[in-house]
Amino acid sequence: MHGSGGRTRHDGRMHVVAVTGLKGGVGKTSTAVNLAALSAGEGRRTLLWDLDPQGAATYCLDLKPKLKGGALKLLGGGRGGLSRVARTSSVANLEVVPADGSVREVEKILSASAKPHKIIRRLVAGAKDDADVVVMDCPPGLGHVVEAVAAVADVLLVPVVPEPLPYRALERFRAFLADTRSAGPELLAPFLSMVDQREPMHRRVEAQIRSDGGFLAAAIPESSAVARMGEEQVPSVISSPRSLASQQYQLLWAETKERIGI
Ligand SMILES: Nc1ncnc2c1ncn2[C@@H]1O[C@H](COP(=O)(O)OP(=O)(O)O)[C@@H](O)[C@H]1O
Ligand SMILES: [Mg+2]
Repeated sequence: MHGSGGRTRHDGRMHVVAVTGLKGGVGKTSTAVNLAALSAGEGRRTLLWDLDPQGAATYCLDLKPKLKGGALKLLGGGRGGLSRVARTSSVANLEVVPADGSVREVEKILSASAKPHKIIRRLVAGAKDDADVVVMDCPPGLGHVVEAVAAVADVLLVPVVPEPLPYRALERFRAFLADTRSAGPELLAPFLSMVDQREPMHRRVEAQIRSDGGFLAAAIPESSAVARMGEEQVPSVISSPRSLASQQYQLLWAETKERIGI
């Protein structure tokens, strides 16, 4: 992450963007990978931290599912922190903390700690000389990982598929954050994901969401370009920059930057 030429000026503060949510399979990883690529493409030194043991973000960037030393060593406070385990990717300015099966232990390690968010905060803070933006790709579900991430993130992006159940899951997620007091409600930034305009139910729920308010304007459409990331192992904003989905990821990134003040 050194000597990356032509990077934009920044205010010296590192910004933390987390992609979270109760549900799996709703586009969290696709969002984390694409926003990280857009951030890096603007010359920001970007670190994508794959916190999901399934390692989908790691895979989408064509990296080996291998976390050097494993999760216990990383969280245990060994020397080097995130920089020790970060890998360069084929995208300029984008480094990745990959996930392997040991990341399954993160939930357990954090649950055994009195102050789980301190462990994550220390690791993130340790990257501040090497990264302008940290993007965290979270596993689905409500647990200590999400609680700790919520406590350190500047924004929590939550993809919501426009169907009744996912929309209600967002309310449960909101209640979880309030119960655990890990993040204020203003940190939540839900947005529509995997929208299929031909689907009447999607259109109905989207109309409901727009009238309720509180969502970002960006709505990521169901898109073969995004689905192909699992095959091409390149962020779809790079392989298909002009697709509708990429335009919406760009809007999402612009709205995210506005939220966190960069
Ligand atoms: N906008 C989209 N259009 C089409 N397929 C998508 C889109 N977003 C995600 N997918 C696909 O859906 C599956 C789940 O997406 P993923 O980003 O891994 O979700 P999550 O991280 O929430 O589990 C993947 O196979 C991915 O390629
Ligand atoms: Mg995922």
